[in-house]
Amino acid sequence: MPSARLSLDPRFAVGPVRRKLFGGFVEHLGRHIYDGIFEPGHPSADAEGFRTDVIELVRELGVDTIRYPGGNFVSGFRWEDSVGPRAERPRRLDLAWHSTETNEIGLHEFAGWLDKVGSDLMLAVNLGTRGTQEAIDLLEYANIRGGTTLSDQRAAHGRTEPFDVRMWCLGNEMDGPWQLGHRSADDYGKLAARTAKAMRQLDPDIQLVVCGSSSAHMPTFGEWERAVLTHTYDDVDLISCHAYYEERGGDLASFLASAVDMDAFIDAVVATADHVGAVRGSKKRIDLSFDEWNVWYIDRFQGVDKIEGIDNWPIAPRLLEDVYSVADAVVFGSLLISLLKHADRVASASLAQLVNVIAPIMTEPGGPAWRQTTFYPFSLTSRLARGEALQVAVDAPTYVTEAYGDVPLVDAVATHDAAAGRTAVFLVNRSLTEPVTVTVDVRGLGNAAAVVESHTLHDADTSAANTLADPDRVRPRPNTTAAVVEGTLTVTLPPVSWTALALG
Ligand code: AHR
Repeated sequence: MPSARLSLDPRFAVGPVRRKLFGGFVEHLGRHIYDGIFEPGHPSADAEGFRTDVIELVRELGVDTIRYPGGNFVSGFRWEDSVGPRAERPRRLDLAWHSTETNEIGLHEFAGWLDKVGSDLMLAVNLGTRGTQEAIDLLEYANIRGGTTLSDQRAAHGRTEPFDVRMWCLGNEMDGPWQLGHRSADDYGKLAARTAKAMRQLDPDIQLVVCGSSSAHMPTFGEWERAVLTHTYDDVDLISCHAYYEERGGDLASFLASAVDMDAFIDAVVATADHVGAVRGSKKRIDLSFDEWNVWYIDRFQGVDKIEGIDNWPIAPRLLEDVYSVADAVVFGSLLISLLKHADRVASASLAQLVNVIAPIMTEPGGPAWRQTTFYPFSLTSRLARGEALQVAVDAPTYVTEAYGDVPLVDAVATHDAAAGRTAVFLVNRSLTEPVTVTVDVRGLGNAAAVVESHTLHDADTSAANTLADPDRVRPRPNTTAAVVEGTLTVTLPPVSWTALALG
């Protein structure tokens, strides 16, 4: 059996585990809002029509800030449509997803839902079909206490206190040719800088996220970040990264190594941002908002899911309803490891998305809600990762991948909260066939004398999934091999598995 050794030391801290790393993303897309979080006729619906079974699952997932309302959707969205008396709200074409948006749920309702799930709002403004004026109008509506037309309108619409939204995205994926209002890096950079300046003039304390690349594999990747940040460096706080991974051509070995790509993506954006800062002689540091990440079978959407036709604009169609396997969840868990490994510069991240649409939570209209396989690595990492993320040196055998060359079989990260005496170790075994025994010297950690929790996600069938018919087919199990003996933690990781251990 292959073995691996990890070295960790509380003195080698990467950075704080910020709660914003466990953010989510809710887009008006498919059955995310309608028939997802909002289903007035559902037996579990509350007085506002929100499904309480979904609210409970979102709370259990442990999601911090939630990015809203898109995504591609935001680039054609008129925010004014979604406020005021419901009966007067217009129905609009959503060109991004070829659907009809009823605007039954808008800013007020969504903020109310966030209060129920205990998450904060992160808003995106439309810089696709709209511009600076509409962005500052929305900011005024959301954050000014009162005494102006827009803030008084908000109060008249039932919300006297400001929404006080702290994080704002300056558009969405403006590098993508599919994006409404897609433009060059220079054109977008100038618009983003103008808009950021105006927004800060109104509310100097907001955090602004400028659009980076929609994937590290875009032809403009790198140059896009350089050009956009050259225009916006002084005006923004964060630059976004988006990445989706899928198993291609049955190459599970490469798919399991997807975090290698995410690591390189983050390192390249940090280097580019720091380069722009150095050229400008600036002491300011731009952090990363990894505000879309997940496993997503995009090729499937290009085919089966596509909606077309001038007379065919459905409301809440079934779109992007990926069913996640054990292998998907293992990759998903390894992406969380990658985010934690970069906790110094990834200040915020949003799992894309939350309910029904490439989501950890699925619902059936009139029926149950259930956890996909990916639910578990998120909820466990969100709950157990506390304090500082620690750099972990991994000494493990490698395996060969088509996409990334030689890759270590094991990847890991640890977190350590000295004050609370809590340590967590997150591990992945990418071997398709072999268990790996891992040893870790934990003597330097202080209170790490015993394994207090162990969870391993694994199944002999890597394609096993949770479905409406069998919602609990896959769940993490205690890892009975995990133990600390005389300052050494030992655990055996089954092939294609993700593991979380809490020590205390
Ligand atoms: O999350 C689905 C879509 O992926 C988002 O709308 C878009 O921003 C990205 O391309």
